[in-house]
Amino acid sequence: MSGCRIARGCQRLRKQDFLDMLKYKKNMKLGILYGVIQLCIIGYLIGWVFVMKKSYQSVEESIQSSVVTKVKGVVSINSSDTGFSLWGPEDYVIPPHGDANLFIKTNFIETPNQTLDYCAEVSASLTVFTSRHGSDTVPDGRCSDDDDCPPGEAVRAGHGIKTGRCLKKDRNDTGTCEIHGWCPVESSQKSHVPWLGKAENFTIYIKNFIRFPRFSFSKSNVRETQDKSYLQKCNYDELVHPYCPIFRLGDIINKTGHRFQDMAQAGGAIGILINWNCNLDIGSSQCHPKYSFIRLDFYSSITTFNFRYARYYKNAAGQTYRTLFKVYGIRFYIMVHGKAGEFRIIPTLINIGSGLALLGAGSFLCDGLLCIMMGRADPSRGG
Ligand SMILES: *[C@@H]1O[C@H](CO)[C@@H](O)[C@H](O)[C@H]1NC(C)=O
Ligand SMILES: *[C@@H]1O[C@H](CO)[C@@H](O)[C@H](O)[C@H]1NC(C)=O
Ligand SMILES: *[C@@H]1O[C@H](CO)[C@@H](O)[C@H](O)[C@H]1NC(C)=O
Ligand SMILES: *[C@@H]1O[C@H](CO)[C@@H](O)[C@H](O)[C@H]1NC(C)=O
Ligand SMILES: *[C@@H]1O[C@H](CO)[C@@H](O)[C@H](O)[C@H]1NC(C)=O
Repeated sequence: MSGCRIARGCQRLRKQDFLDMLKYKKNMKLGILYGVIQLCIIGYLIGWVFVMKKSYQSVEESIQSSVVTKVKGVVSINSSDTGFSLWGPEDYVIPPHGDANLFIKTNFIETPNQTLDYCAEVSASLTVFTSRHGSDTVPDGRCSDDDDCPPGEAVRAGHGIKTGRCLKKDRNDTGTCEIHGWCPVESSQKSHVPWLGKAENFTIYIKNFIRFPRFSFSKSNVRETQDKSYLQKCNYDELVHPYCPIFRLGDIINKTGHRFQDMAQAGGAIGILINWNCNLDIGSSQCHPKYSFIRLDFYSSITTFNFRYARYYKNAAGQTYRTLFKVYGIRFYIMVHGKAGEFRIIPTLINIGSGLALLGAGSFLCDGLLCIMMGRADPSRGG
């Protein structure tokens, strides 16, 4: 131990005190305290700064990533309206090109055989459900007189252009304007069982390629394995197959704490988070992705997630007609985060340097403590 470095700072320090201090320095208790403080600092440096925080590593948090998805599963639908049909990924995945943000159709309302024609804003041929609620969904379409339907004006939030005729209720009609548009207009009747309820068993294969440019390190989440059929057999499971990149839709929804069948009916948004936390010092084979799943939309029974699209056809007579789909489904957002660290001499030297400075500060602190205790221990000094 070198001399009392703080000595000059100690007020009213006299020669006698200084000699006393040297005496105290030889004191057992103070010696132990000094040792304990230095040990604490060394422990903190090694345990926290170097082992826990790995500050001997250079860390990169900007991950470069690419995600490719592939959905698999086939489902058959036998409905009284449209008959038997078979749905494959090419039908229910939008867009179909394997994007990181994908939409899987789980329910839909189909309005077949629409042609450009004249019809009521709410068609008389629709079900009780629609004629009761239809005019409420398109309030601008309601009318009691032809004056309520100025020709050429589009129905606000409606389906076409007003023709100037009011299909009056007292004539046993809909009480809405006649429109020029795709007729008949869509029925807002909703099927109560998700049509693609079996989509629970569909799987998403997520291929994620990442790169940490600072370390020129690349990796994929698809495990390199001798067993060629591994990917055909496995389904992601937190415990059994944590590195299997194939996810059952039902499992994903279940992990977010929701039920697939509820979500399939009205739609929703799900985030799939892939987190890479790699310590490149212990080898690239130890660098694994960790998956987690969250529901992104505010869940309520009122908000639904849907959009519409149409398929156009021409019949033999050359007339264009279309089938309109209002689709409900689950939107998946795949988000990749990560960081990697590797030993580098510069951060190591910097941290050793600051460690040494901390040790110096430690002995400075001890000296200061010594000064204070000196003052307390020597009441004759006055003050
Ligand atoms: C579809 O359902 C109808 C009755 O609703 C039935 O007659 C028909 O055989 C079914 N088709 C198939 C392929 O299951
Ligand atoms: C749609 O049109 C086709 C041919 O024009 C017809 O066979 C079919 O029954 C129509 N479907 C509906 C639901 O009107
Ligand atoms: C109104 O329509 C109902 C059923 O659509 C029918 O039974 C009734 O006779 C119609 N009334 C008139 C006045 O057309
Ligand atoms: C999903 O698959 C399992 C077995 O693989 C089956 O028992 C279950 O009925 C299927 N679920 C649906 C909704 O088809
Ligand atoms: C998720 O699945 C487990 C096991 O199959 C089940 O016990 C649990 O109730 C499910 N959670 C939800 C939210 O459906």
